[in-house]
Amino acid sequence: MRIETERLILRPWEERDRAPLAAMLGDPHVMRFYTHPRSRAEADGWFDKMVADLATGITRLAAERKDDGALLGLVGLAAIEFEIPTAPATEVGWVLGSSYWGKGYAPEAAKACLDYAFTTLHLPEVVAFTTHQNLPSQRVMEKIGMRRDPSADFDHPRIPEGHPLRPHVLYRITNPRPA
Ligand SMILES: CC(C)(COP(=O)(O)OP(=O)(O)OC[C@H]1O[C@@H](n2cnc3c(N)ncnc32)[C@H](O)[C@@H]1OP(=O)(O)O)[C@@H](O)C(=O)NCCC(=O)NCCS
Repeated sequence: MRIETERLILRPWEERDRAPLAAMLGDPHVMRFYTHPRSRAEADGWFDKMVADLATGITRLAAERKDDGALLGLVGLAAIEFEIPTAPATEVGWVLGSSYWGKGYAPEAAKACLDYAFTTLHLPEVVAFTTHQNLPSQRVMEKIGMRRDPSADFDHPRIPEGHPLRPHVLYRITNPRPA
């Protein structure tokens, strides 16, 4: 599985990506809208899950910059595996290292993932969600043509009750070329 855009290659994970991915997921600034920066063991868990999910065609991929081969972060699809009002559904998501923010890489990569979801996988719809405070991520959702559905806002079931990051917003986009 490989997706190419003007500036990026989205490709399967390789062992050499483990350490740089763990550095990103362990960075408190990158992870400020998550409950906590991930430990090395937790980051390895994310890595292993993404590798295992590759066989399904629905996974986060390594986002690499064509110019210099830099690993920018993770971008891609995921099956939602916990109870939210819209489940079952497929989600598009992203995490980039902070030195790569502000250059439109996440929307470029995510748009290509939506095209893949609609034209190759023929999914009827893709959703995205994040905590209320995560405005950068919501901007990415808007830039790739997703629209917020306030009726689908939800409390993230894996974040403790009362935690400020628990309330989430949900964005949707439907397949313009349904099967
Ligand atoms: C969300 C994220 C992927 C954005 O990626 P990106 O490639 O920078 O996207 P863009 O360049 O299109 O910028 C999107 C928005 O991010 C914000 N942004 C850009 N550069 C930024 C910076 N250096 N610092 C903080 N926010 C910034 C702006 O609000 C921007 O919107 P604008 O273009 O209307 O000004 C990136 O911020 C990130 O990885 N964040 C941490 C992980 C995360 O929250 N993931 C989402 C979980 S649901």
